[in-house]
Amino acid sequence: MGLIGGGPGSFIGAVHRLAAEMDREIELVAGAFSTDPARSHEAGVGYRIDPARAYASWTEMITQERLRSDGVDFVVIATPNHLHLPAAIDALDAGLAVMSDKPMTATLSEARTLAAKAASAARPYRLSYTYSGYPLVREARRQVAEGRLGPVRKVVVEYSQGWLARPIEAEGVKQAGWRTEPAQAGAGCIGDIGVHAFHLAEFTAGRRVTRFCADLNTLVPGRKVDDDCNVLLRFDNGATGALIASQIAVGERNRLHLRIYGERAALEWRQEQPNTLAIRDLDGTETILHAGTALGSEAIAATRLPAGHPEGFLEAFANLYRDFARLLAGEDNGLLADASEGLRGMAFIDAAQVADGAWTDLEISA
Ligand SMILES: NC(=O)c1ccc[n+]([C@@H]2O[C@H](COP(=O)([O-])OP(=O)(O)OC[C@H]3O[C@@H](n4cnc5c(N)ncnc54)[C@H](O)[C@@H]3O)[C@@H](O)[C@H]2O)c1
Repeated sequence: MGLIGGGPGSFIGAVHRLAAEMDREIELVAGAFSTDPARSHEAGVGYRIDPARAYASWTEMITQERLRSDGVDFVVIATPNHLHLPAAIDALDAGLAVMSDKPMTATLSEARTLAAKAASAARPYRLSYTYSGYPLVREARRQVAEGRLGPVRKVVVEYSQGWLARPIEAEGVKQAGWRTEPAQAGAGCIGDIGVHAFHLAEFTAGRRVTRFCADLNTLVPGRKVDDDCNVLLRFDNGATGALIASQIAVGERNRLHLRIYGERAALEWRQEQPNTLAIRDLDGTETILHAGTALGSEAIAATRLPAGHPEGFLEAFANLYRDFARLLAGEDNGLLADASEGLRGMAFIDAAQVADGAWTDLEISA
């Protein structure tokens, strides 16, 4: 694995590395960790790779690694959003597989370009929608698919954070800086966490959003992107829904909550208590399912420890990498988001911005 991004002080690149290596099917051997060559080198030392394989740019990494018999098989893209497209194109053109972080790109037109490239590429392109790796999210998907709830009537998904409640981008906080810069982020909260909620809703409900009405707001004065979003949803079977995404929700850490209501029963999953899934029936009975107990095969496969031994974000991420390693070996379980899923996410982000406040169809055109 060659990592693009994940330099000193960054967030998700190091998580990719830990997760990818958890099952010893993947090893980080090279990287272009930063735009600053010295910082890329520093990161390489920290990751304990051969210092010669900590490169000054991803183009240098791709060129040099291709010359090696033990060169990287795939790259991970964990940079700010505007670099997702060029990094993915360069890797795919070089015959490398790609695991990219979300959102797919900064803009919808970039996503269309990348989807076309991925469709003709020799090697796979996939996206790391972290939350689809949790065992009980996979169990929720199974329960819905197998009809435990009856036909889905309503989906409510909330993703609230409070860390951008103040204009910390003006105080030099790196993660806030590029996320609030339209040229680098593309969109604000809707693209940063709204798209996670969107993917989680479709992934678990097994239904597609067809229409929606998005109210995007910027509540911190002077901020250049949205930081608070309320979206009404309609699904392809007529189900209704609501998606809340906010980064100004003071006091919230990473409140990702999912509720799905069917005709006969409902389910609820909370990311900050990820090892349980509640199922509630019409008669008032509540059943709590626990990770590590008798669940469906996909949830069992996604669990490493016996019940009562908490697993979390890193293990969920590692599940994506286990799927990815199998995919590279020719075995696709269909759970990883591909370029068409990435394009759906970008179409949602784009339409939410363009049709702000009006009902709009979610149209995915290549
Ligand atoms: N899946 C998830 O749960 C999740 C969580 C957080 C972030 N993300 C996504 O991951 C990406 C990175 O987010 P982050 O919070 O880690 O950002 P960050 O600012 O913490 O880190 C970005 C890193 O990219 C490096 N970088 C920038 N330009 C580069 C270049 N040209 N070549 C090599 N490296 C370069 C920076 O030096 C830095 O180390 C974003 O797209 C974000 O949306 C996903």
